[in-house]
Amino acid sequence: MNGEYLISVSILSADFSRLGEQIREAEQAGADWIHVDVMDGHFVPNLTMGPVIVKACRRVTQMPIDVHLMVESPGELLYDFAHAGASNLTVHIETCPDMPRMVQTIHTLGCRAGIVLNPETPVDTILPYLPIVDLVLVMSVNPGYSGQEFCPEVLPKLSVVRQELVKSGRPVRLEIDGGINAQTIPSARDAGADVFVAASAIFEHPDGIASGIHLLRSRLLK
Ligand code: DX5
Ligand code: ZN
Repeated sequence: MNGEYLISVSILSADFSRLGEQIREAEQAGADWIHVDVMDGHFVPNLTMGPVIVKACRRVTQMPIDVHLMVESPGELLYDFAHAGASNLTVHIETCPDMPRMVQTIHTLGCRAGIVLNPETPVDTILPYLPIVDLVLVMSVNPGYSGQEFCPEVLPKLSVVRQELVKSGRPVRLEIDGGINAQTIPSARDAGADVFVAASAIFEHPDGIASGIHLLRSRLLK
């Protein structure tokens, strides 16, 4: 790990009537990635965004677009999201019986491949794929909605994955998603995360988006 921490701004809590403006504001405040939560109403109860939103984000920023696919059949959507401008395509282990094939397809489309696991899914399920992915995402809430409470029970998963990544020496990002705020972000950093997804802590900060990002960033300084 190179010690560089990234903040991935989840637009799930954005004001969609002012999406472009809010993405620019986040970028100016030092956001690193834009996180797009794709939900199909089947794998998770909520229904959210499709490639058209990624395309809209791409028109207003050059930041990497971090697409989190909470859908039953991610394979069918990879092409459309890649062509809309996605940088990272992250798929749930719970939805991918043939992960090597999925990762290969994502790479063929020119994107970085991420693997994600739900809070109840054991970490061992993803370890065989560490040599082929570019990103590991650990869910710290049950996927579906922003504004939920962080589950500290998932922190040991970060430590296990970090240890494996250190052994391998591969430059794989380790991301945490769900309930990240000023109180919880230090524990995720200490457990080994280096990318922090946040929606409500940024978009619902009483002093605005920039203050939300600056507060999270300040809590990452040791
Ligand atoms: C939850 C999503 C998260 C969510 C995070 O299913 O994957 O990315 O937007 O929201 P907060 O930061 O409010 O927990
Ligand atoms: Zn997410």
